[in-house]
Amino acid sequence: MGNKNTEIIKIDRHDIDGRAVAHCAEVIRRGGLVCFPTETVYGIGANAIDAAAVDSIFRAKGRPADNPLIVHIADTDMLPGVTSCKGRQREILYRLAERFWPGPLTVIAERAAGVPANVSCGLDTVGIRFPSHEIARALIAVSGVPIAAPSANLSGRPSPTRASHVIEDMMGRADVIIDGGECDVGVESTVFDIAGDKMSILRPGAITLEDLCEVVDGADEVDWRRPFGEGKNEAPRSPGMKYRHYSPKAEVIIYDGDRSSVVKRILREIKKRKFEGFSVGVLATDESICYYKGEGTVVQSLGSSDDSLQQASNLFHCLRRFDGMGVDVILAEALPSGGAGDAVMNRLYRAAGGTVVICGEAPETT
Ligand code: TXA
Ligand code: MG
Repeated sequence: MGNKNTEIIKIDRHDIDGRAVAHCAEVIRRGGLVCFPTETVYGIGANAIDAAAVDSIFRAKGRPADNPLIVHIADTDMLPGVTSCKGRQREILYRLAERFWPGPLTVIAERAAGVPANVSCGLDTVGIRFPSHEIARALIAVSGVPIAAPSANLSGRPSPTRASHVIEDMMGRADVIIDGGECDVGVESTVFDIAGDKMSILRPGAITLEDLCEVVDGADEVDWRRPFGEGKNEAPRSPGMKYRHYSPKAEVIIYDGDRSSVVKRILREIKKRKFEGFSVGVLATDESICYYKGEGTVVQSLGSSDDSLQQASNLFHCLRRFDGMGVDVILAEALPSGGAGDAVMNRLYRAAGGTVVICGEAPETT
């Protein structure tokens, strides 16, 4: 537990109180930590060009010292202070900015000399994001400095999508927590690396490879289904990918396959686990939740199976609620890909530490 006297300040995103924002901006300028909502998840922010303030983010989260932070801006005018990229990389950055910013896209580009090395854990690149959330934009603009901000959860826990989640994790650790309501997207931004020879999505988000390919040629996506299998001698391109992540306290197991095989398999597992004395949770969809009712388990739906945005906005909240109810094991149905579906599966997959049970006939691999 931290020992700061954390202030909680409510701000209405549709009627922003300028005095409250000015106060929070002052905290940022003097080197303090402010938790604020973005359209994806809440972040815990500090002045990105103050190395000591940046250091305190790592301490507040218990974050490993080799997992770099994203720098948030509120105007493309701030880009020259953050990145020194030139030539083709610069041209691509501005093309992406034009199409996707403000919005849930982080671009990895060459780091400017003015950005302290600890922001990027010594890498010569930096993650840059221009969020669309009104409160995030106001805070950055009034602070007048770029804001380094990872998600405002304790390291390894599910990302916060509501102020109550931030309060759970960051009371006593941050100077201010802005309560700005629920986030819209619910999963973190797409991380897109344009600094290397090959442009790649390092972390899937609401902006998909398909979306990016409308603007750039020759981009691909790293195979996140094997984040733990990366060659031992090879540094992962996105350092954050190597950590077990987004984890509730409960064990998470994913079941993949056709619906009836998945349901059968989960029902069998419920019986077994309950017999062993465990408290069981099931993460289902609106279409499948009926099969698990009356089994003496905690069942939550992520929403409709064909609405990946709804699933994204519910995922982290559902994981935290299972924890709140003292569930020991979470049996989760795999979700369809497409749209934000890959981002949701990526987070679920990492919460499960890669444990997927294939049910029925093995799905075709392409
Ligand atoms: O939606 C979001 O991106 C949220 C909100 C608060 O903006 N932020 C967020 O930050 O998710 P964080 O720190 O939880 O995740 C940042 C991810 C990590 O996987 C990190 O490894 C990667 O971005 N990253 C940051 N800088 C990088 C760099 N220079 N090279 C490669 N990966 C980088
Ligand atoms: Mg995070």
